[in-house]
Amino acid sequence: MTAAWSWYVIALVVINIVGCVWLLRANSKSRPGDPPPDATGHVWDANLTEYNKPLPMWWIMMFYITIVFSIGYLAWYGLGTFGGLSQGWTSQSEWAEAQRESDAKLAVTFAPYAGKPIDELAKDPTAVALGRSIFANNCSQCHGSSGQGAIGYPNLTDAYWQWGGTPDDILVTILDGRQAAMVPWGETLTSMGGESAVDDVVTFVRSLSNPKLLENSTLAAQASKGKSLYGQTCVACHMEDGKGNTLLGSVDLTSNTWLYGGSPEVIKYTIVHGRTGQMPGWSGMIGETRSRVVGAYVWSLSRHDDQTASAVSEADSSTQ
Ligand code: HEC
Ligand code: HEC
Repeated sequence: MTAAWSWYVIALVVINIVGCVWLLRANSKSRPGDPPPDATGHVWDANLTEYNKPLPMWWIMMFYITIVFSIGYLAWYGLGTFGGLSQGWTSQSEWAEAQRESDAKLAVTFAPYAGKPIDELAKDPTAVALGRSIFANNCSQCHGSSGQGAIGYPNLTDAYWQWGGTPDDILVTILDGRQAAMVPWGETLTSMGGESAVDDVVTFVRSLSNPKLLENSTLAAQASKGKSLYGQTCVACHMEDGKGNTLLGSVDLTSNTWLYGGSPEVIKYTIVHGRTGQMPGWSGMIGETRSRVVGAYVWSLSRHDDQTASAVSEADSSTQ
């Protein structure tokens, strides 16, 4: 707060308090020339008179007590830039203090895991159980309570990784987040291959995960037109074989595991409107070590080798 604002606030508050005292005093005393306390002298309709009852004492005292309280309150908590007798207590500083304490406690809990690779942490049932609770608090609203995903939110329990499934890839995804960028292709495709271009490409894309479609000769003809358009536009990101590139997050189109959906309508929507899925980065929110620990849990979800699987089932029983 600048000095000018501080004085402005102080002046407003002081004027208000002094104003209240003045108002109260002015109204609880009778002035010379006022009518006697029980009659105002006003008369209506010949016999209706107005009486003036002084404010009850208890009410006036309450008012003074509130004023005294407000002065005490301001003296303790401060006003404007003055910290007050409590030496600058604010709810914010109290919160920051509590935060520091809980961070210190967390640092102790998580210290043993600092800097460890997530596949190694995944063998430790305690780390996996901690990771599961971090996941429940921070990730499940998007990825589902058990990481099964939803439309637009990838399934983390399967073998397909849009942004790479090595321990390091997963860690980078969690720490820094990911931003997918597929621009809309509708107009470009139509200008290249006419009205049916988008549908031709849709058929080709569907055939990548379902080659049986090509047994139908009409679809096969569409797919072959679509393939040449794909070769001119999509190939840069989705690659020649349609398997995608984990550096760009351009999903594998051959897997029959869909992020947004594999029906002709949804594929068409994706191509015409583009898609820009975003995974938020967590390094600033939960820090590196907790990102590693939740990464260990995520890693364990899709692993079914002996060591990791037993860590997961132990974590299961320890959290029940
Ligand atoms: C600049 C790179 C780039 C180009 C070019 C590109 N895509 Fe994509 N595509 C992506 C990315 C990245 C995603 C993932 C989007 C997300 O996660 O939100 C994606 C997603 C998709 C999906 C969604 C798959 C699913 O699982 O739901 C389809 C279908 C698709 N692309 C088809 C195409 C077709 C067809 C073309 C060419 C007309 C094309 N893309 C061109 C990068 C690209
Ligand atoms: C606000 C929703 C949201 C939250 C919260 C969220 N994610 Fe994600 N996450 C996404 C989206 C969307 C994607 C896919 C991005 C894309 O389309 O490329 C993603 C992708 C991922 C991937 C990459 C999957 C792959 O196939 O490569 C991992 C791993 C992941 N998230 C883990 C986590 C973890 C761990 C947390 C919690 C610390 C978390 N996410 C919290 C939305 C979220």
